[in-house]
Amino acid sequence: MMVTYTTVAVLITIFAIAEAKPKCKTFSQKDVVCTAGKTDYQLVRGLVSDNNKTTGITLRACRIYDIEYESFNDLNSLSYLDLSQNKIQNLKLGVIDEPKQLSYLNLSYNQLTEFPLGLFDQVTKLDLLDLRGNKINKLELGIFDPLTKLNFVDLSSNALVGKDLNPYIFDQSPHITFIDFSRNNMEGSPDNLLHAFQSLQILNLDRCFLKEVPSFATKPNLGTMKHLILSTNQISKLDNPATFVNLDSLELLDLTANVIETINPNIFSPLKNLQKVDLKNNIMKTIPDDLFRNMPKLISVDLYGNQLEEVSVNVFRGSPLKNLNLSSNRITYLQDNFCLELRNSGGKIKKFLFDPNPWQCACLHDLLKEVKRLGIEYNKGKYDGKRPVCVTTAEFNCKRQQNFNEMYIDMFNDVKEIHRNSRSA
Ligand SMILES: *[C@@H]1O[C@H](CO)[C@@H](O)[C@H](O)[C@H]1NC(C)=O
Ligand SMILES: *[C@@H]1O[C@H](CO)[C@@H](O)[C@H](O)[C@H]1NC(C)=O
Ligand SMILES: *[C@@H]1O[C@H](CO)[C@@H](O)[C@H](O)[C@H]1NC(C)=O
Repeated sequence: MMVTYTTVAVLITIFAIAEAKPKCKTFSQKDVVCTAGKTDYQLVRGLVSDNNKTTGITLRACRIYDIEYESFNDLNSLSYLDLSQNKIQNLKLGVIDEPKQLSYLNLSYNQLTEFPLGLFDQVTKLDLLDLRGNKINKLELGIFDPLTKLNFVDLSSNALVGKDLNPYIFDQSPHITFIDFSRNNMEGSPDNLLHAFQSLQILNLDRCFLKEVPSFATKPNLGTMKHLILSTNQISKLDNPATFVNLDSLELLDLTANVIETINPNIFSPLKNLQKVDLKNNIMKTIPDDLFRNMPKLISVDLYGNQLEEVSVNVFRGSPLKNLNLSSNRITYLQDNFCLELRNSGGKIKKFLFDPNPWQCACLHDLLKEVKRLGIEYNKGKYDGKRPVCVTTAEFNCKRQQNFNEMYIDMFNDVKEIHRNSRSA
């Protein structure tokens, strides 16, 4: 009897251990992919280590809370290591010393707060480092120094405080082309934060608590930059015409969801390669007459969700504009033959979104006739008779005078209100 009991107990223990470990499978003799076991797990030597054929290891969401020394020993061909979506709080100095061929390291969505100096000293071939979604609040000077080949760095959704960042942290990584600081507090970052970069292409500063376009993002060495993302900040003014003078290569400028009210008419003119400007969800009431004039590559302008009443064709004169979005503004009319005039002044308008707006019905009628005649794509689906799209007085003609705007806007808001109430009733 005694003997049987012991055997059962031992068996159960073995089972429990077996289930705690992630399960790993090897594909094409070189790609190891693991899935989580039933409990949290400390990675140790033996699970994925000791195989010189392995080139890739995926330990995504494997409930790993710690990595023991030697876990990656004898992986002399390893170039790809995905440790994302685990619960790692610390990486001990030396744990990633072994796989010297490593070029891709994904540590995103863990609970890392900082790194011991020297952690990356042996993985000098690293090209991509994804640290998104941790709690990193400190980057010690020198931590990235061995990473001279670094190309892609994602630091988004961490607890970085820009004003405490040392501007020399990237000094030995001048070839970074992509860097993402979004969802960190980057207000007050040093002006020379990115001074070492020689070929940056994409800079993401979404949700960084910025009150103005930060000067570290517009320095002369950033003339290679193609995308600058400044969305969801608290930028209110763009009034210095020299702001973007250095950004010769910029193709996309995203200023979505700020509180921009005024824009200097010449601020975009240095951006000769700009293709797309996103200004949606700001609070612009007027748009300067020259703002997008003579921009040789400009094809998309999104002004959705502002408070514009007047938009003149002059704003876009000499630019090959294809897509324009004026939806959700305070527009009751546009100038006569707006689209034709756009085309006559260099525009190539193909897609034009203008609903909702507090349109005067007669003006909307003219515009709809025009877009249909010219074969321009518009928000067709919105005109299904299911909700109010315009307002009119007894007199059905388009009044192109600003002093009537207030009246039509009020009428439209009233109609919308009635419509909403009747639907909820
Ligand atoms: C892997 O290669 C190294 C040197 O190239 C060798 O010393 C080691 O024994 C090999 N390990 C395995 C598990 O084959
Ligand atoms: C890193 O892992 C996350 C989550 O598993 C994934 O969404 C992301 O695309 C990976 N990053 C890169 C650069 O491949
Ligand atoms: C505005 O219109 C453009 C096409 O002209 C479209 O690509 C974009 O998504 C629109 N923006 C919004 C917020 O709907």
